[in-house]
Amino acid sequence: MTVSRAALAAAGATAAAAGILIRREQTRRATERFAAAALETVLNAIDANDPETGAHVRRVAAYSLILGEAAELSEHECKSIERVALFHDIGKIHEALIDIVRDDQPLTPADRRAIAKHPIVGANVLEPLSGFYPDLADGVLSHHERWDGKGYPNGLKGRRIPLSARVVAVADTFDALTHGRRYRDAQPNDVARKVLLEGRGTQFDPEFVDLFLFPPIFDKVLNAEREIGAWKAPVQKRRSGSDDENVPDITFRWRPGRNGARGQPASDLTRQTAR
Ligand SMILES: [Fe+2]
Repeated sequence: MTVSRAALAAAGATAAAAGILIRREQTRRATERFAAAALETVLNAIDANDPETGAHVRRVAAYSLILGEAAELSEHECKSIERVALFHDIGKIHEALIDIVRDDQPLTPADRRAIAKHPIVGANVLEPLSGFYPDLADGVLSHHERWDGKGYPNGLKGRRIPLSARVVAVADTFDALTHGRRYRDAQPNDVARKVLLEGRGTQFDPEFVDLFLFPPIFDKVLNAEREIGAWKAPVQKRRSGSDDENVPDITFRWRPGRNGARGQPASDLTRQTAR
């Protein structure tokens, strides 16, 4: 049997196209693994600097995902909420604030002002990820906004507050109340439920409060709390070699004045998002 040149050329073209598709898929998977490794590194940095906050953000992420699923949000929205929940307090991880939070004295007005800056600090820290996750810095910036417009830093109202921030605000408040800090004792679940109910439609999006307190959903939250309570940060094993031989050596913005500025000053972020 003889094979025509045309048939050989067609077979060659098909093989080349298949090769391109395989390489594209390999690149996509390598990019995904690289992005996940970068985000896990940031989470490890939170754990290493303040394990209490590391445990808090994990619980808040678990409760937020339960809320997102209960509200039948899309997978994309749930992933966005998960990222905002995990990194919402990244602006608290610096020495001055950790000293304030760990001090067992009552908070002074100056302490409160310093703590109130953490959404802006966090959004600035996460700004380099905005090109990939445009809603991450905004969600973090807005997690202390209030439904009635009396929150900070921008006084956003109602649905102008990003969805992720409205979900995280409910989960964050419940967790902050039920897990004490040095300056504040942990409250029983009933007290935290009452605080959420009192803030329904003033501090919080009423739909998410209703969902959170709906008994089957609330039971899931309590189960997640128990599971994460037993969680311990694993001892990280150093891996030898690379997961992916094609990970590029990258140029990134670590030096002022080279490849762009290192991030916007806080005042720019506040102005941009002010309405
Ligand atoms: Fe916060």
